[in-house]
Amino acid sequence: MCGIIAYVGSKPAAPLLVEGLKRLEYRGYDSAGMAIVTDQGTRILKAVGRVSVLEDQANSAGDVVGRLGIAHTRWATHGGPTQVNAHPHTGTTADGHTVSVVHNGIIENHSTLRKYLAEKGHKFVSETDTEVLSALIAQLYHGDLEAAVQSALREIKGAYAIAVTCDREPHTLVCARKGSPLIIGIADQAYIVASDASAIVSHTTQVITLDDYQVAKLCAGPNDSNTAAGGPWSVDFKTTTIDNVPVPLEIQELELDLEQIELGSYPHYMLKEIMEQPEAIRDCLRGRIDMREARVVLGGLSARTRELVRAKRFVLTAQGTAYHAGLIGEYLIEDLARVPARCEYASEFRYRNPIIEDGTIITAISQSGETADTLAALREAKERGALALGAVNAVGSSIARETDAGVYLRVGPEIGVASTKAFVGQVAVLTLLALYIGRRKHLPELAVREYLAELDRLPAHIQRVLEQSDHINQCVQQYIDRNNWLFLGRGYNYPVALEGALKLKEISYIHAEGMPAAEMKHGPIALIDDGMPVVFIATKGSQYEKVLSNIAEARARGGRIIAVATEGDDTIHSHADSVFFVPAVPEPLQPLLTSIPLQLVAYHAAVLRGHDVDKPRNLAKSVTVE
Ligand code: F6R
Repeated sequence: MCGIIAYVGSKPAAPLLVEGLKRLEYRGYDSAGMAIVTDQGTRILKAVGRVSVLEDQANSAGDVVGRLGIAHTRWATHGGPTQVNAHPHTGTTADGHTVSVVHNGIIENHSTLRKYLAEKGHKFVSETDTEVLSALIAQLYHGDLEAAVQSALREIKGAYAIAVTCDREPHTLVCARKGSPLIIGIADQAYIVASDASAIVSHTTQVITLDDYQVAKLCAGPNDSNTAAGGPWSVDFKTTTIDNVPVPLEIQELELDLEQIELGSYPHYMLKEIMEQPEAIRDCLRGRIDMREARVVLGGLSARTRELVRAKRFVLTAQGTAYHAGLIGEYLIEDLARVPARCEYASEFRYRNPIIEDGTIITAISQSGETADTLAALREAKERGALALGAVNAVGSSIARETDAGVYLRVGPEIGVASTKAFVGQVAVLTLLALYIGRRKHLPELAVREYLAELDRLPAHIQRVLEQSDHINQCVQQYIDRNNWLFLGRGYNYPVALEGALKLKEISYIHAEGMPAAEMKHGPIALIDDGMPVVFIATKGSQYEKVLSNIAEARARGGRIIAVATEGDDTIHSHADSVFFVPAVPEPLQPLLTSIPLQLVAYHAAVLRGHDVDKPRNLAKSVTVE
């Protein structure tokens, strides 16, 4: 995934673009670039590495002025992270003007188009699909940028969010989307286009969201030549389809505060997002628990209650951390709603000719709502007749829009690349879903009441776990030079073990494996040597004694045991070298707490190893390509 930002208005574009890129940097950070357009032509700057390198370049050039510009921060797909491959890419029109493009997505038919354009005389300098698109727009340009973009997009297969300029039209910005996100902010005498709201909210809360195959033409120019440097400027926008059919789009109010995306006093977004989980989960649960009736209230599902109660099978689908939440959902839906459930990697599900029987409900789980495989799996199941639900954080995202019904996570924007509060939000929503159905089928009111009361106490419980952060840090210090870790759990806590291992891998680059505790004996136990950290989720529950046996097996082979245990368990210290405690809750609710110390383990390990926690190598916040 990449981040794009574009500006046309009465202010100098470059500083605004750099500020926007910094907010979008979590989406990709291999390289960055910008194009600034004036009456005199197009000025392109590109840099390999972080946005700050581009910023230094712009500052030292000193003459990057202009009130129209586009910019991009890249996560490489086609072509390595080099200066040449960085966006913007350009094409030259027949009359010698420069067309510049920033793009998020993938042009699938770029090879055919590249060949065609090369025959027409276009000289390509990069390996990217985006340069092909720039050349195509330039090829089709006959004095009207909007028309050229529309024509080019009619030839394109694939996914795109683009912002385009041409220096023959130095007050016009054209943007379009299909399959990749893009929103347009309407600011004072200006338009700001960005991949997500975080880059817009400091300028305006008035936005329009483009739908697939829609194009926006945004113009901003001085009323007369004397006001070029100040105002008033007149602004004007128009939205059409790629076939040039006008589409009136509504202006919406952005539901996002600047404070939510600011780091505040925290050193990293990941820590901020871990620490704000009590509040995030309070927001997630707000209005959804009716203690009086002992019922779950999910407005987004109410129109589909009959289908939910009659469901014969749930297929949960997601990738990465969201997949681990889905695995917990599998346990929850079978256990509490008594409906057969399977969680599948979206990338596997979509290509294996899945059988969708009558009464199947597909549930896509996603923080961003833009993960390409999850979106494709959702579409696949929908086409085969499944009812489509979503458990999504990003409001108005592609997955949210393509589902028949859904429940938003409401945990606020997640900027740290490693997902934390969204995971807990996903598990909370799946718990609510299971109780929503279970209560309408067989679950006794008393049992539901007990679960709901515990959910109500969840923010306070999470707070107690977070208070152990310093203790967890001290424990991690003892093992920080170890390069192999195991994470083991049973039942509801088996997916938590998978998630604990993933968190550690992705930000501290320590090799870790998660698995069912009983599986260890079937091979992986051979890995355990003297001093290897083995993390057990050993909370009180139906399999507690069995976990203690597994601990003994690992300990006997030299493993150093780190246990996540239930408060009040006085004997656990005799089994484990280090212990993190979580409050006692019923088993189905345990993952909401047991996952939290493991987030802190990963965070502290990454900091102790000196890694850039919020921008781990090779990763981007969401994967919008297959
Ligand atoms: C890991 C992580 C990823 C995402 C995965 C799905 O910390 O964040 O594994 O969970 O890429 O992303 P979403 O939830 O946006 O669909």
